[in-house]
Amino acid sequence: MDYLWPITTQTDARGALWIGGCELAALADEFGTPLYVFDEATLRAGARAYKAALAAHYPGPAQPAYASKAFLCTAVVQLFAAEGFDLDVVSGGELHVALQAGFPPQRIHFHGNNKSQAELQEAIAAGVGRIVVDNFHELALLTTLSAARDAAAPLPIWLRLAPGVSAHTHHHIQTGQEDTKFGFSLAAGAAARAVALALAAPGLALRGLHAHVGSQIYDPAALAAAAARLVAFAAEMRAQHGFALQELSPGGGWGVPMTAEDPPAPLEPYVAALSQAIVAACRRHALPLPHLVLEPGRSLMARAGVALYRVGARKEIPGVRTYVAVDGGMADNIRPALYGARYAARLVRAGGQAYLLNNLGWLGPVSDRARRWLGQETGHSPELVRAGGQATEIVTIAGKYCESGDVLIRDIALPRPAAGDLLAIPMAGAYTLAMASNYNQALRPAVALVRDGRARLIQRRETYADLTRRDLPLAGAPEPRGDGRPFFKYHALGNDYLVLDPAAWPEPPGAGLARAICDRRRGVGADGVLWGPILKAGALARSAVPTFALRLFNPDGSEFEKSGNGLRIFARYLWDRGLARTPDFALDTPGGLVAARVLDAAGTQIALEMGRVSFHSDAIGLAGPPREALDEAVAAAGLPLRVIAATIGNPHCVLFLDAQTPGTRAALGDLGEALARRLGPELERCPLFPRRTNVQFAEVVDRHTLRIEIWERGAAYTLASGTSSCAAAAAAVRTGRCASPVTVQMPGGAMLVEVAEDGSVRLTGPVAFVCSGQVDEDELLRQSRAAGGDAPD
Ligand code: LLP
Repeated sequence: MDYLWPITTQTDARGALWIGGCELAALADEFGTPLYVFDEATLRAGARAYKAALAAHYPGPAQPAYASKAFLCTAVVQLFAAEGFDLDVVSGGELHVALQAGFPPQRIHFHGNNKSQAELQEAIAAGVGRIVVDNFHELALLTTLSAARDAAAPLPIWLRLAPGVSAHTHHHIQTGQEDTKFGFSLAAGAAARAVALALAAPGLALRGLHAHVGSQIYDPAALAAAAARLVAFAAEMRAQHGFALQELSPGGGWGVPMTAEDPPAPLEPYVAALSQAIVAACRRHALPLPHLVLEPGRSLMARAGVALYRVGARKEIPGVRTYVAVDGGMADNIRPALYGARYAARLVRAGGQAYLLNNLGWLGPVSDRARRWLGQETGHSPELVRAGGQATEIVTIAGKYCESGDVLIRDIALPRPAAGDLLAIPMAGAYTLAMASNYNQALRPAVALVRDGRARLIQRRETYADLTRRDLPLAGAPEPRGDGRPFFKYHALGNDYLVLDPAAWPEPPGAGLARAICDRRRGVGADGVLWGPILKAGALARSAVPTFALRLFNPDGSEFEKSGNGLRIFARYLWDRGLARTPDFALDTPGGLVAARVLDAAGTQIALEMGRVSFHSDAIGLAGPPREALDEAVAAAGLPLRVIAATIGNPHCVLFLDAQTPGTRAALGDLGEALARRLGPELERCPLFPRRTNVQFAEVVDRHTLRIEIWERGAAYTLASGTSSCAAAAAAVRTGRCASPVTVQMPGGAMLVEVAEDGSVRLTGPVAFVCSGQVDEDELLRQSRAAGGDAPD
């Protein structure tokens, strides 16, 4: 039964199970469960076995393509690209993933029985190698699209035919018989008409014929018969229409054993039988050998993947059955429920031990015969037998989803599973995750690729945030009530800002209003005012995404260019009010355009492309000769300090505690609010920065973590700041102190800063709605004046 497991599977002296040099129990601890573990060696060996079998048995040119519907993700696409495979896709979505992963478009074949016009256009624009035309509707669409195309060469296509061959497999995955939704029927003459139409379309080049008779097929005869029929049909079409068969794709479909009751299914006899049938048919009809394309999915993927679950609840129904539930089920593997698919399994004890049942000769579901045999052989009840000294029982592995049909394995003998144990299910690589759903809002599992003792996460587990990512709430921030003018207050990591919308506030706030409204005793209280969205003529036309302009004001009335917290707040305001209707839009700030992305439906997490951090003196506007300002001398509190100067639209001065001389370092004391308050005011106005600056005091926690205290220009001591996080993180990366991404810890909370090679930074952090209300501007100013505030300007 080793043939059910990845080729690198090993059991060590303790009985622990290892794949790709990684212990399964350790992988479950590291990545959580359910976990899908893919063995890179098995994948690559499978790919090479296909190439070798084709080379050995087919005398003409041949090329395998991976049918990506079996399981598609970026890393898998890249692996098959590297193995020299072509790729089959069946939807715009699969095509998108393949292209995103960098798969060469000319090596992609596009299948599908109802491709939309948009999908076909996407495929044509991408330059996919072959479009596999399935029906007359699609043929007509492509005839029109290709005629309108401004290209030197016609569009290469295949026709999918229904050869009328029934394969012995589950009827859901039979496709070659006469009664199928796929392809042009041979029998009814549809195929012949399709050939005539395709040959007559000037924009199309009919290169070949395709059929796929079904999946999980063990007998090469059906596959060989279908291929021979395609060749015979091609010969007829040569006689009738002068068609030359250049390429032949008899699909995929080769089966795999699922339990120890199934024999192994080696590739060679299948590829040999198929090749011989094609060669014989070509000889019979005096046709040259076509370029042969095989499209395996399952036979490449299934064995490489092992699903790993954690055992939880148990229910014993005396005399009926014992259910053992695991933490996955039909949401990650619907095959047992949909096709009655049967799986084997091994139990991995919480301590790491795996229990082999080989001395009883089976691992898979227990047949009635085996039950009787077990009873006689052991003298125990058939429900509880001993295997290798381990108490063994027959249980049903249930999933955790709300449906009785959510059963992964019916009647399997396992050493009594206990809560916390792991259950490993082999042959789980194909059509499991590919068909996974979010039923019951299940989080789709993590996927790890193992090789030589290294495990790489190639698909992260979904998070709760993923579940609401596409949702749009009924309403955003509530409408303020009252007679005055509305304000909206939001909080973003230690900063709160008020949004004043020009719809109600036609003039930008003067210094008097900014001071009065930000005043925490007599006003609303805030770290600043965001005035926008300002309607700017032509702004929309210039940008590819909706663009919203704003101006930013400090509580002292001065204006500033950019703020990570303020801009996230503004983005959230636009989202809440329905002004931004798509999650991607741009903010036009005095410091430049900033791309914003709302990451969840409620707008609680927002990412900003903050632009590039530059350390060049000219960009920052520093005094003195042009230079990279990575080590500047300044003085404050009588101490000689070394700082880094930076700009990200607004100026920053980053003081790393570790850059100071030992004497100065000692005099500075610990990183904290006191330090920022002591040195901040002087550094804000130090002569190096003619337009004043923001100041960060920074300490490296580890390669990916920085701790900072902030003194903000025009606002004084601040608990958190977005541009400050960006500047400090970029300075830490630029000077080799940290590596991207950097989590910047501030007293007000943490933000994530990703720093690209060219210094561009992406900032992600939370935003929360605080309140909305109305203010009477005149009354506010009157009170502010009475309290000794400045008169409005
Ligand atoms: N080519 C075409 C046109 C196909 O439709 C398919 C699979 C393949 C190739 C790959 O076939 P394979 O080598 O994987 O058998 N969800 C089902 C399987 C559906 C197969 C659909 N077509 C399952 O879980 O058994």
